[in-house]
Amino acid sequence: MSSSATGAAKPTVTVTLDGSNRNTSLPVLSGSIGPDVVDIRKLYGDLGVFTFDPGYGATASCESKITYIDGDAGVLLYRGYPIEQLAEQSDFIEVSYLLMYGELPSPAQLEAFRKGVTYHTMVHEQLRRFFDGFRRDAHPMAVICGVVGALAAFYHDNLDINDPHQREIAAYRLIAKIPTIAAWAYKYSIGQPFMYPRNDLSYAENFLYMLNAVPAEPWTPNPILSRAMDRILVLHADHEQNASTSTVRLAGSTGANPFACVAAGIAALWGPAHGGANEAVLKMLGEIGSPENIPHFISEVKDKNSHTKLMGFGHRVYKNFDPRAKIMKETCHEVLAELGIKDEPLLDMAMEMERIALSDDYFIQRKLYPNVDFYSGIILKAMGIPTSMFTVLFAVARTVGWVSQWKEMIEDPSQRIGRPRQLYTGATQRDYVSLGRRA
Ligand code: CMC
Repeated sequence: MSSSATGAAKPTVTVTLDGSNRNTSLPVLSGSIGPDVVDIRKLYGDLGVFTFDPGYGATASCESKITYIDGDAGVLLYRGYPIEQLAEQSDFIEVSYLLMYGELPSPAQLEAFRKGVTYHTMVHEQLRRFFDGFRRDAHPMAVICGVVGALAAFYHDNLDINDPHQREIAAYRLIAKIPTIAAWAYKYSIGQPFMYPRNDLSYAENFLYMLNAVPAEPWTPNPILSRAMDRILVLHADHEQNASTSTVRLAGSTGANPFACVAAGIAALWGPAHGGANEAVLKMLGEIGSPENIPHFISEVKDKNSHTKLMGFGHRVYKNFDPRAKIMKETCHEVLAELGIKDEPLLDMAMEMERIALSDDYFIQRKLYPNVDFYSGIILKAMGIPTSMFTVLFAVARTVGWVSQWKEMIEDPSQRIGRPRQLYTGATQRDYVSLGRRA
């Protein structure tokens, strides 16, 4: 197969199937920024061949207007706005509005959205019972995956995903209820009473309240910690077509219930190569134990046979510093200062690890830089959040990204069920052999 780009007003790529006289001309589509894409939809019809791209490294699975990443330049934009500006000047609720609706809200729109989300923070009392079914030592990701999926049982029969208003209510419900479900998963694991949401608090404050407060004591928010939590939520809110978002889209493309689709997204997020990395970073630092063991650990990482990865390093798209990691590093120092933590051995170790890795040829050649998860775990640990809750927190933040992408997909007139093809390398057709005739 050979291909050539033809530079006319509307560029196309001509693909010729070598050895036959068949060729096709494929349109090249341009986005507002980022690389052009070759529209291969008629490739199979014209030439009878599929494309092969396991891991989707070179495949745009959809058209989207929500988030843009330039991995080489270390740029992340939500609806065109740089993540640095949003982390500094906005807050999670405003960012949620932006992701869902495409524009920054007016003061009245923001107030209405804040109220709308706040109104849905409580969960059906019957849902409490689901928690009792889990073991106390269950991983909270397993718990929230189950309980969020169970929301589908509460809001299914009357949910019409083709009705824009109902889609909106489902989105509000998910954004509003996920902190309550996440906090209750934690409370259940430590045997403390569930704290009901407080609608007089901000989104981040309320989440910290439900995680940390107990009925027997008064609780007041700490502005620095609330700000840090809010920033973590903003930084994790969306990240274009990553594994969990693609999972939500794929599940949603079948017309499935949105609560079930988000539960599928939670399952995909859990893996250590994705959202589970923040938990894995802390586990890794704990196992290394002290800075003098870092060189040995790094040599293990470089040994292909050891299957050891430097967790919190590397990214499919960022081949330069992850912009979220930069902000996270600053927030990490702010939080430790606020909490009066002068010597945090884990942070010292993380910084030493970063220093060594960034000057080592193995990491330089492969363009492996710290990602968002490298620092978030240290902040969360300092805030008293247990390691097993780190990925849950990521899920709380990413829910708005999932629902925004799900909404965008349903509202896209060209949307079809997601149905990838394959390169089949198994047995060709053969006749069944009865059991008695097999050796
Ligand atoms: N430590 C050591 N080597 C690495 C690492 C790492 N963390 N990441 C990639 N490499 C090597 C990899 O072995 C390969 O080497 P070679 O070319 O010699 O075979 C090369 O770098 C290219 O890596 P890749 O596996 O082709 O990259 P990928 O795009 O498939 O994987 C990744 C991306 C994020 C899964 C991977 O970098 C990784 O596993 N990182 C650690 C887990 C982690 O921190 N994940 C959080 C990602 S950020 C949060 C999120 O968005 O979910």
